[in-house]
Amino acid sequence: MAYDLAIDLGTSRCRVATRSGGIVVDQASVVAIDGRTKSAVQIGAAAEAMIGSTTKPVRAVWPLVQGSIADYDTAVRLLRFLLRVAGGSRFGRPKVLLSVPRTATNIERRALGKAASEAGAARVRLLDQSVAAAVELSLPLDQPTGSMVCDLGAGKSEVAVLSMGGIVSSRGIRLGGVDLDDAIATYLRVTRGVVISRVVAGAVKAQLVTLLPGGDDLTVELAGRTIDQGLPTTVTITAGELRPTVDEFVRQIVGTVVQCLSEAPPEVAQDIIFHGIHLVGGGSLLHGFAHTLEVATAVPVHLHEDPAAIPVSGLQRCLELDARLEDLFTEV
Ligand SMILES: Nc1ncnc2c1ncn2[C@@H]1O[C@H](COP(=O)(O)OP(=O)(O)OP(=O)(O)O)[C@@H](O)[C@H]1O
Ligand SMILES: [Mg+2]
Repeated sequence: MAYDLAIDLGTSRCRVATRSGGIVVDQASVVAIDGRTKSAVQIGAAAEAMIGSTTKPVRAVWPLVQGSIADYDTAVRLLRFLLRVAGGSRFGRPKVLLSVPRTATNIERRALGKAASEAGAARVRLLDQSVAAAVELSLPLDQPTGSMVCDLGAGKSEVAVLSMGGIVSSRGIRLGGVDLDDAIATYLRVTRGVVISRVVAGAVKAQLVTLLPGGDDLTVELAGRTIDQGLPTTVTITAGELRPTVDEFVRQIVGTVVQCLSEAPPEVAQDIIFHGIHLVGGGSLLHGFAHTLEVATAVPVHLHEDPAAIPVSGLQRCLELDARLEDLFTEV
């Protein structure tokens, strides 16, 4: 059975690939909803651009939370948009390969599949995001050699140990990049009485935060609003003052990896110690994270180029290898 489209519906970004075209969509997973009519005003990148820059009564809805659908109707709108932008109509009703977090419950998996069908997909198959990443990284999936993939996303962080065509063990927490953004925003609200948006907090994280020694004196000036009167203001923060917030976030993710590693069968753990841990997902770009994980586990860590795109690139490869990977898919 040949599939037409590969979709990685992430908490912060949605990516679509076709067999021959590569990644054809990479946009924010957000829908701008008119507060009065409840209709979708803009979707994806256009909705993201609209947020905060319009005087219209528009509400931003991110239909995925912690990697799973939290607002079903908006998720269907987003998926319908993705099928259209990716040229889904070329295929009539396209057959879709959809990635799913390991931590998703059966109900969440069914909701994801049903939403894609309602959006216009003729047939939907689900594939674990870590398996998709392993395919893209050409890890020895069909051999008795253990591999470890950590997918650090915006809404969740998952660790999977793979061997012999499947997942041997896994661990996940519903904690991701947006939680760190929110923690940074909360820190500024509590200590300075300044409200900043999640987008600004995300930019601070990417520009200022480092887990490596030194760099604590780096500063950045931010635009926000005073908590009491809502007046525009600016605030300066240093990397050093964010360290406790960032360390607590990282401690939980590193703990999840260590736990998964300690639960792996001894032979498989040996393979991982030898071949290393593979980091994917945008969260793995947190400056110094790969080094921190390497020190904590004493296992080599591989941070790949453009880590956030690896799951969807793996799904795309699955479109090509379809028949040989049939056992890995779950039909919904
Ligand atoms: N340079 C950076 N430093 C720290 N974090 C970053 C950096 N670049 C991107 N991120 C974070 O990566 C996350 C997005 O990663 P990704 O696209 O893999 O998530 P997603 O697939 O949308 O979410 P999920 O898989 O959890 O549903 C965001 O939280 C973003 O802030
Ligand atoms: Mg993801």
